[in-house]
Amino acid sequence: MSATDSTLSNDLTKRAHEITRRELALYVSRTQRSQAATERARKVMPMGVPSSFQAYDPHPIVVSRAQGSWMEDVDGNRYTDYDMGFGALFSGHCHPAVRSAIEAQLDNGTLFVTPCEANSEVAEMLGARYGLPMWRFTNSGTEATMDAIRVARGATGREKIVKVEGGYHGHHDEVMISMKPPLDLAGPADNPTPVPGTAGVTNAVLGDTIVIPYNDPEALERALRGGDVACFIVEPVMENIGICKPLPGYLEAVREITQRYGTLLVFDEVKTGITAGWGGATGALGVTPDLVALAKSIGGGLPLGAFGGKAEYMDQITSGRVVHLGTYNGNPLCMAAAKAVLAEVCTPEATDGCIDRNRELLAACDAIIDRAGLAAHAVQFGAKGCITWSANPVRNYRDYKNTDFDLAFAQWIHGINRGILLPPGLDEQWLISIMHSNADAMRYAAVFEEFVAELIA
Ligand SMILES: Cc1ncc(COP(=O)(O)O)c(C=O)c1O
Repeated sequence: MSATDSTLSNDLTKRAHEITRRELALYVSRTQRSQAATERARKVMPMGVPSSFQAYDPHPIVVSRAQGSWMEDVDGNRYTDYDMGFGALFSGHCHPAVRSAIEAQLDNGTLFVTPCEANSEVAEMLGARYGLPMWRFTNSGTEATMDAIRVARGATGREKIVKVEGGYHGHHDEVMISMKPPLDLAGPADNPTPVPGTAGVTNAVLGDTIVIPYNDPEALERALRGGDVACFIVEPVMENIGICKPLPGYLEAVREITQRYGTLLVFDEVKTGITAGWGGATGALGVTPDLVALAKSIGGGLPLGAFGGKAEYMDQITSGRVVHLGTYNGNPLCMAAAKAVLAEVCTPEATDGCIDRNRELLAACDAIIDRAGLAAHAVQFGAKGCITWSANPVRNYRDYKNTDFDLAFAQWIHGINRGILLPPGLDEQWLISIMHSNADAMRYAAVFEEFVAELIA
């Protein structure tokens, strides 16, 4: 960085802090009822929220209702929702087709714990999208990745797994490791130290999880060389550090290396799933894994996960070697919602339409950044996008840690006060759903332009 660049960056940081201070005060004044609701909730729930991801300072907005592409909080503030349930609502809030499918199912019951015909209908639809023949249902992405890992261990008879640094795959022990490790504990960039992401992970589990950098095929090769790794679990495009794309050839190399060492390749498509394109990231990027884990948007707002794969691996369940269980698995209510999402709402044409609207939004954001000469860029994958506050693309977790979080937070808090609801963690991305109109999508760009104007004023 030259002396001029560094002065410029210091000025922007100073300006971002000023904006943040002002906007935090405004946020508190316009979310008084959310504050009161959170104070009440803190007396009965740790942090006052049902999942720790929902907590942020000074308090989260507490929501009273949502429809289509908007949400309203208990103070009556309206937001265009770009968070969309951490990307779980590609079909929008209560899409009419999903709603009527759920309502129709209510007349016929919500839980049978014996199969319903919709189980195979939904499994067939997922099979058509992902080119993988056999499926089982779960209630969340966490269960989907947990069960996929168990199948991989059963199929290979091996215990170790490999994951990438900065990757999030749900909240079971094996993968609650090195999700966002502090750099002083994380070891060298090319050979990261596995760091537990929570208390309660045993040393035995820690010892079975190998952590490597994303976009580094040599590191994967080194990790698999011992022949004792059951699976490599990876998001084909990382969507918990903004949007981090594979470098050309990376996924192809991953496919070849895993095959060479008899290690199963598990794609975590909980987030990329049907939002990356009709066939998910698997279809969009043309590399087929052995097993895939899905959740979020396939359920249309109801809790549904699934994992599927090649018959030779899913046969572990058929033979009874690997046991997969769950009272709510494949319940008819979630199946009804999934059928509507997959067959009626998120069709190939509707999916492409969202991706096109998103492309326009990305182009508008990039033009704003270019005109202002900022060290930032917009990144798109399918119907999702984000602003990355660095000049260079993010290739892995360490690059992500080098982006400018002061600017990212100032943009987030500025946006929420103007009705732009983005995920709170700064590590997620926006989703343009089926129910976002073109005007809804472009509202983000208009507020972003206001923010940039203030930043460089
Ligand atoms: C990539 C990825 N995998 C798995 C999960 C876990 O899904 P769930 O929250 O439904 O358990 C998440 C959740 O955000 C995710 O982003």
